[in-house]
Amino acid sequence: MLMFYQVVINFLFGLSSFALLLRMIPGAKYLFLKAGLKGKDMSKKEKIEIPESLGAVCGTVFLVCMFLFIPVPFVTKWLEKDESNDFPHNEFVEFMAALLSICCMILLGFADDVLDLQWRYKLILPTIASLPLLMVYFVNFGSTTVVVPSPMRFWLGLHLNLGVFYYIYMGMLAVFCTNAINILAGVNGLETGQSLVIGLSILLFNIMELSGDSWKRHLFSLYFILPYCFVSTALLFYNWYPSEVFVGDTFCYFSGMTFAVVAILGHFSKTMLLFFLPQIFNFLYSIPQLFRFIPCPRHRLPKYNVKLDKLEMSKSTFKSSELKFFGKALLHIFKFLHIVDIEINLNKDENEEYIQVNNMTLINFIIMVLGPLHEESLVKILLLIQMLGTCLAFVIRYQVSKLFY
Ligand code: UD1
Ligand code: MG
Repeated sequence: MLMFYQVVINFLFGLSSFALLLRMIPGAKYLFLKAGLKGKDMSKKEKIEIPESLGAVCGTVFLVCMFLFIPVPFVTKWLEKDESNDFPHNEFVEFMAALLSICCMILLGFADDVLDLQWRYKLILPTIASLPLLMVYFVNFGSTTVVVPSPMRFWLGLHLNLGVFYYIYMGMLAVFCTNAINILAGVNGLETGQSLVIGLSILLFNIMELSGDSWKRHLFSLYFILPYCFVSTALLFYNWYPSEVFVGDTFCYFSGMTFAVVAILGHFSKTMLLFFLPQIFNFLYSIPQLFRFIPCPRHRLPKYNVKLDKLEMSKSTFKSSELKFFGKALLHIFKFLHIVDIEINLNKDENEEYIQVNNMTLINFIIMVLGPLHEESLVKILLLIQMLGTCLAFVIRYQVSKLFY
């Protein structure tokens, strides 16, 4: 019964944060513009400047909401305590470390928005922000043993201790979650939309698991995800096509870290990765450009066609002599699989062969399959794919996994 009241209070705190953000963002917009935090909406006729990094306001309201919520699950437990029922110090420390990691990530994301950091820092920052969390995991839980899938048990046994590799995996999870959202971006409403779908998927999963053995871990996750869904809905309201605000890298980092935190402390990182199926595809497809085997422009978002008022694939052009062995091999494989649009032209004046290939993102891939699309239709299709991914994730989690565990 107590748990029910705590969830109701969490819901009401989330709802209040939602209402507060709806009121705050219109005012904050002007402050951000005045401070020079703005970006051009590249897929519009008039390239107007829009306030950017509003994810900072969203993240701050989330933190305030969570700070105010801290006493709810813990003070009630303290009041209840008797000699056999001590204050849950372990859970309290986990709660604090989770907030510290998220807070750190918001700060580092905002620094990235202001300073426009290089790509290598985008990998280092989430790793650093996840350290408090990994330390608490080490002290409180410490188990690095995983259950081996049945087809591999003959060789590896029922359990496998991954040791330090488990911590590396958890650190990489934070790097992946933060960056995977940030590189599936550039269309109005996409960063917030995909994050909200993932957030709601985790929320649904937590609710379904509340009646199971690990209900405590899922309740812990729910306390974070419910307010998260409220604040990102408020931001989506202003970020939806045509965007009044951009969310910035701050929001992508804040979202990714929140997902990583609840998955690590809730012990459901594999299921959480299943909710990232479109992001995993986008990452794998992007590998040739991300690791610079093929030249990667600063922006890979689709190209706006003024006449059609639609978005077309954006392309990258480079000399074929610029490609090394790996670049050439990957391009051949992608061409064989029919997943790239590639054109080779000979420039007779320079006696050089030029390659033109679409930027390798899920967004451009959809345009390649369906043809040019209006920005709002494109974001709706991408979010539909995200939702279908969630349905597939639940089928894998509850049906297919039975074959392996
Ligand atoms: C990532 C992507 C980049 C993509 C960019 C778009 C990689 C390696 N990086 O870079 O390809 O172009 O996100 O967010 O894949 N913008 C719009 N419309 C939107 C959202 C953003 O035009 O709906 C533009 C605005 O000019 C905005 C800028 O994108 O200022 C933000 O880009 P930024 O977040 O700085 O790019 P990255 O995260 O570095
Ligand atoms: Mg970004």
